[in-house]
Amino acid sequence: GAARPEPLAVDRRPGPAVVAHRGASGELPEHTVAAYELALAQGADGLECDIRLTKDLQFVCVHDRTIDRTSSGSGVVSELTLDELREHDFGSWHPHGASAQVLTLAELLTLTLDWERPVRLFIETKHPVRFGGLVEQKLLAELHRFGVAAPPSADHSRAAVISFSAASLWRIRRHAPLLPTVLLGDTARFLGGSAARVVGATGTGPSITTLRDHQRTVDRDAAAGRVTYCWTVDERPDAELCADLGVRWVATNFPARLGGWFADL
Ligand code: G3P
Ligand code: CA
Repeated sequence: GAARPEPLAVDRRPGPAVVAHRGASGELPEHTVAAYELALAQGADGLECDIRLTKDLQFVCVHDRTIDRTSSGSGVVSELTLDELREHDFGSWHPHGASAQVLTLAELLTLTLDWERPVRLFIETKHPVRFGGLVEQKLLAELHRFGVAAPPSADHSRAAVISFSAASLWRIRRHAPLLPTVLLGDTARFLGGSAARVVGATGTGPSITTLRDHQRTVDRDAAAGRVTYCWTVDERPDAELCADLGVRWVATNFPARLGGWFADL
């Protein structure tokens, strides 16, 4: 379906927005419907997911190169078809997990867009260089199919593309200039660099470890018209630091906890 025109809830109140990193993955198995539904029920403003292409070129939400850590099976995602991935259980490995199928990007987009509040899905392209542009081409086609590739403004966008790869974001921005993008990085060199400006990313994404030592990066981003997205923030002092500095989006494995802390400030 087409994206609804309402602004995101976070645009109507001050303070940082909470992004559920792989869903409420501190409580339930990452990248499962249950983990994302819990995050939404807990009031998350955004969801984060990692995407990889299967052997038959379908997007699935899996962080690692292999499915060994997060499923009952084993093997490299890009060497398995979607049907083969569906033979494995992606929930029961977790102490609090119930049986779950591998989650496709299409399923997660549907869940995100059907939720009662407007929320944003931050989609991370993993190691896209290997496919030479195919990931971005297919991702843009998918975002068009869901009606979220050309938002009325970046602030209203229901999707964002994030990546450690500047090349990946460059390809996205060439074809979808209104889509928010975040260039991720976890070194001081990244923060001092000009890659985000060169690719036209609308945000930069330092890790919390990097941000603690380089707090001025948030102001530098703001001066350049970019927002800051910080990951992965699970401790209260770090959450307070993000709020003090004016970090816009804060990714966490514990969205309920973070939402409570921000509400207290
Ligand atoms: O949200 C960005 C963060 O997820 C990047 O690191 O390894 O968890 O994908 P990783
Ligand atoms: Ca990620």
